[in-house]
Amino acid sequence: MTKPLLRVLAGEAVWPPPMWLMRQAGRYLPEYRELRGQAGDFISLCTTPKLASEVTLQPIRRYGFDAAILFSDILMLPWALGYGLAFREGEGPVLPRLTTAQEVSALNAGRVEAAIAPILETVQRTKAGLDPSTTLIGFAGSPFTVACYMVEGGGSKDFARIRGMAHAEPELFKSLIDVLVDSTVEYLSAQIVAGADAVMLFDSWAGVLSPRLFALHVIEPTCRIVAALRARHPGTPIIGFPRLAGVLVGVYAEQTGVDAVALDTGAELSIATGLVPATVATQGNLDPLSLVAGGEALAAEVRCVLAGAQGRPHIFNLGHGIVPQTPPEHVADLVKQVRAAEAFSPRRVLRN
Ligand code: CP3
Repeated sequence: MTKPLLRVLAGEAVWPPPMWLMRQAGRYLPEYRELRGQAGDFISLCTTPKLASEVTLQPIRRYGFDAAILFSDILMLPWALGYGLAFREGEGPVLPRLTTAQEVSALNAGRVEAAIAPILETVQRTKAGLDPSTTLIGFAGSPFTVACYMVEGGGSKDFARIRGMAHAEPELFKSLIDVLVDSTVEYLSAQIVAGADAVMLFDSWAGVLSPRLFALHVIEPTCRIVAALRARHPGTPIIGFPRLAGVLVGVYAEQTGVDAVALDTGAELSIATGLVPATVATQGNLDPLSLVAGGEALAAEVRCVLAGAQGRPHIFNLGHGIVPQTPPEHVADLVKQVRAAEAFSPRRVLRN
């Protein structure tokens, strides 16, 4: 297997760890801002294969990351199901607020295949432009996180609407999750057929649920997605990102069957990796704000992540997406530091 990142996903402790960054294509890069300006709105950029594949490749050319992640958005799935979606400047995504069973029935799985065709073409074009050692990652939002945006009508501070619905209208809520499970399986499966080497499920808001609801709406739907993808594509690894799940990351890693768990910024690596089975790879979890600061603040955080991940199958990444104010030269510094990582003992970490 020539791709270092796939070796880690198969359980090998490759060192220095292969690396990529969540949201590595985006507004911190001047070349992205230029293409974004040409495309007009964000949805047009995601559905124009020539531009979307170019944007996917931009950070690979600049930094030589070990993985490219398809340039798209988790909300392109509800969009493909016929649900309204707009991205407003400075406001983020805006969607209708889902409140009724009729709105769940109106989600139209029949239109997904045609709607996602340009996204699949982006996968094909990107794959053709990548070196054989670079892994192409496809992705989707988890049903719960996608449902968050549909029920809240966009982002939220406390997710009171969706948490309220999950408690008070369990049948309505489950019917929404079920539609999203089925369409996510089809969507990720199509990305794999188009050339994705691995897929990632982003569950950005997994941590807002009670442990009981986490089992019902994060673990159980993820189990169904993983089982269905395994049956169709046994060789394609799956990374799960149950953000803010805290100690439940261990249960998630054990029960869902994912090949790797992405850890968020707050996860203390020696504790979190102790909760994750040794056979499941980890990914993460540098603070994206340390990358804005750069210098010694960045170097200190990088040393901590490397020390915590050493000796186990690990993919170096951020704990959440890169932020737009990140200086591109700090990313170049980060790549140098990770690639220069030596194996070191805990004592040496303490003395540093
Ligand atoms: O990682 C990558 O480089 C691949 C592309 C990617 C985007 N979004 C592009 C994007 C991926 C993997 C995502 C995932 C995504 N989208 C998540 C899960 C990860 C996370 O950050 O928690 C979520 C919750 C979304 C929903 C979303 N999309 C929000 C809340 C926003 C607005 C906030 C923001 O960062 O602007 C988006 C817009 C978005 N998605 C942009 C990009 C590059 C910015 C759009 C622009 O260029 O104006």
